[in-house]
Amino acid sequence: MTGPVPELEDRALECARKLCEAERVLLASHIDADGLTSAAIASQALERAGIPFETVFEKQLDAAAIEAIAATEYDTVLFTDFGSGQLDEISVHEAGGAFTPVIADHHQPADAETAYHLNPLLFGINGASELSGAGASYVLARALAEVSDETVIPDGGRATTARADNRDLAALAIVGAVGDMQDSDGELHGANERIVAEAVDAGVIETSTDLALYGKQTRPLPKLLEYATDVRIPGISGSERGVLAFLDELPLELRRPADGGGGGSEGDDTSAGAGAGTGTGTGSNAGEWRRWAELTAEEKQTVASALVKRAVSRGVPAGKIDRLVGTAYVLSDEPVGTELRDASEFSTLLNATARYERADVGLAVCLGDRGEALEQARTLLRNHRRNLSNGIDLVTEEGVTHTDNLQWFHAEDRIRETIVGIVAGMAMGNEGISRSKPIIAFADKSDDDPDSEPDSEASQNNEVKVSARGTHSLVRKGLDLSAVMGQASRAVGGDGGGHDVAAGATVPKGREADFIEQVDELVDEQLS
Ligand code: C5P
Ligand code: C5P
Ligand code: ZN
Repeated sequence: MTGPVPELEDRALECARKLCEAERVLLASHIDADGLTSAAIASQALERAGIPFETVFEKQLDAAAIEAIAATEYDTVLFTDFGSGQLDEISVHEAGGAFTPVIADHHQPADAETAYHLNPLLFGINGASELSGAGASYVLARALAEVSDETVIPDGGRATTARADNRDLAALAIVGAVGDMQDSDGELHGANERIVAEAVDAGVIETSTDLALYGKQTRPLPKLLEYATDVRIPGISGSERGVLAFLDELPLELRRPADGGGGGSEGDDTSAGAGAGTGTGTGSNAGEWRRWAELTAEEKQTVASALVKRAVSRGVPAGKIDRLVGTAYVLSDEPVGTELRDASEFSTLLNATARYERADVGLAVCLGDRGEALEQARTLLRNHRRNLSNGIDLVTEEGVTHTDNLQWFHAEDRIRETIVGIVAGMAMGNEGISRSKPIIAFADKSDDDPDSEPDSEASQNNEVKVSARGTHSLVRKGLDLSAVMGQASRAVGGDGGGHDVAAGATVPKGREADFIEQVDELVDEQLS
């Protein structure tokens, strides 16, 4: 049998066999949506293969974090969604006999090699747009099922259910890829597409061509349209009055009926789902706006056509109008009207946990906790949304500083270092913030990490976090922010890496101006 990504199959099997040999495994992962889904996939695969493990999360896999890992009793460490970029540090510990690393990652590898290294970039697959950390972990999970079957049932007789071969985990791989914005041009591509095919086949994901706006499951219709600013439609984006007038003109009943009663079974399903999402019952939300996910196909068509017509009449260019429509990835098993049903909303919910030191909450949700963990995640999500919105307002109001080849801002302690990159990416395209230059964001490093060692706090305070974001169009012209962040940060005594379109670094406080100068030169070289 071949796995979902043939190019990676041999390496995945080697990694899987190594894990099966281990008495127990330390699983280390990154604190974002992709890292959480990576850990959720890997931990379920390990559990199903009967391999004992423990999970830890790191904001960043720096030298101190790797040292702490090396100091544990574990002889085998599975790194997911990071590890490749830190291979130089990791291989020192490997050589010293501290542990054997197994890595399922998609970041630009550092200049070192190791045997059990599963990374799409080593096999000619783009790690920024074709496979995420969760995707690499999924490939490994499929191989683990294959290998542990070999071990447990040597004479064939493999079970054929999606669960037995780990194909059910493909839904989480898609949430991870979407969380890393690998669908940013409207849909998933390449190796990701093959995972989507397996997910559809396993019955865990449904795809459809749909409106490409965030919040189709949980936002009431007017909010869906008002808050969507990726493609700005004059009179709609950011305008509550404009949206209400627009919706009122449509020949549709877009509010819930006042009698509150759902007719057919489909209606009952829908209101139950929406109820789960909002905490309100069927009857009490009569008169409230419906959500996109509750509309029938014809109703969606009517709203979408009207929206496109409005965009055209207000002079939105055709290329941007195309971006209003994309492929939606829906998790079939999750209730309609909940964050978990939409891959994009699910990934935001996860970022709201792990980027606030509550990876445990996000992981529990990924593993199926629909009680307390989901409730906590929703509370964290409200806070995360508020922080994003305040952050974007701050950057837009204060503006960015333009140099020839880039634009930058310093948020100091006003935006959390763990979300400053998301804010920078979302602010691009706002008034005064260009989409034709990369954006570099600085934020003070926080030392509120409960895991950080006391003696490392002083050094953390002397460091600044950098996040860099570009666009696919800039990448096509030669931009590689991973190389830029790595070189520029090392030139000023820091370190960094990531992907061509999105990368990050840590630099010493006070060296920001030198760093910007370096970045400006490097970007100039890449784009000329
Ligand atoms: O560490 P990791 O690979 O999981 O993070 C990738 C980061 O790159 C995410 O924060 C994601 O939002 C960002 N990204 C982006 N634009 C893209 C692709 C990725 O901002 N087109
Ligand atoms: O933190 P941020 O979201 O800006 O990170 C963007 C990308 O750069 C992520 O893929 C992250 O893993 C990577 N990164 C890195 N080294 C750093 C900081 C970020 O490889 N020091
Ligand atoms: Zn990732």
